[in-house]
Amino acid sequence: MAPASKPRVLVASPTFDEVLQQLRAHFEVEANEGPEPWTGEAFIQRLHGKQGALLTGAQTVDQAVLAQVPGLRMVANMAVGYNNLDVAALQAAGVCASNTPDVLTETTADFGFALLLAAARRITEAERFLRAGHWKSWRFDMLLGADVHGSTLGIIGMGRIGQAIARRAVHGFGMQLLYHNRRRLPAATEAALGARYASTKQELLAQADHVLLALPYTPAAHHLIGARELALMKPSATLVNIARGGIVDDRALARALAQRQIAAAGLDVFEHEPQLAPELLALDRVVLTPHIASASRRTRLAMAQLAADNLIAFFETGRALTPVTR
Ligand code: DGY
Repeated sequence: MAPASKPRVLVASPTFDEVLQQLRAHFEVEANEGPEPWTGEAFIQRLHGKQGALLTGAQTVDQAVLAQVPGLRMVANMAVGYNNLDVAALQAAGVCASNTPDVLTETTADFGFALLLAAARRITEAERFLRAGHWKSWRFDMLLGADVHGSTLGIIGMGRIGQAIARRAVHGFGMQLLYHNRRRLPAATEAALGARYASTKQELLAQADHVLLALPYTPAAHHLIGARELALMKPSATLVNIARGGIVDDRALARALAQRQIAAAGLDVFEHEPQLAPELLALDRVVLTPHIASASRRTRLAMAQLAADNLIAFFETGRALTPVTR
């Protein structure tokens, strides 16, 4: 009897050789060797005839894509966020989807805190100032920022990453912690974190010295922070977004920064990545990074590994390890 053929799998964004090797032991693999991810039509063309795919946020799988790839059975996102996937359409088509929770929590929390410190204490702005040769003398009033330690941090989105940031804030920096979340945390979790619940985002925005966004993107979260919300924040406040672009109205944020309605921002995600609103690029008091909050080598390898393990588990047992549901 001829041996059963291996399922065909597309690896649509470049990933680690050791993960590709493991996938090749289980699947017939077409892999992107880089440097840029396959997106749009190039992605869909390559997805034809595949049963599985390893993806990043660069690839979208929605109803229109699914209609063109009837043999697809499983997509494994190398990300915890999955707003690039239409989960309802995937479920209706009987296609399993998975993400990579937990493995990136602490690394992403580190980065969120780094952005908060960099923006509030003007670190990248100070470096640009120095490299441009503007440092003429040691001045007492030069590049004054806002304190992070001892201040009140407001976190919107208190899932795994929000809680990891809360631990750093309270135990590392002696901060007071306010949070807003769709569901209030159990009292014991609040007590362990030292977190106080704000029942509205407005309350949190008005009271926090710094605000950090760590919630998943959903249509309901679109422009959760716009002109009205920014106007509620303190003029000395910093806004940090490590969640998803689209949660913040980038143009309204640029206006608020330019008019000194708030002091600073740290942004790792943007509405139209990789394009940035030119108004943001023109500002000094904003730290801008290219969606790298989870980008330590160890964590990215763990994300790729978990995505590959999800594909393997699904084709061997019919169940992914970390499936996503609506
Ligand atoms: C995630 O895992 O969701 C990160 O934002 C990378 O896409």
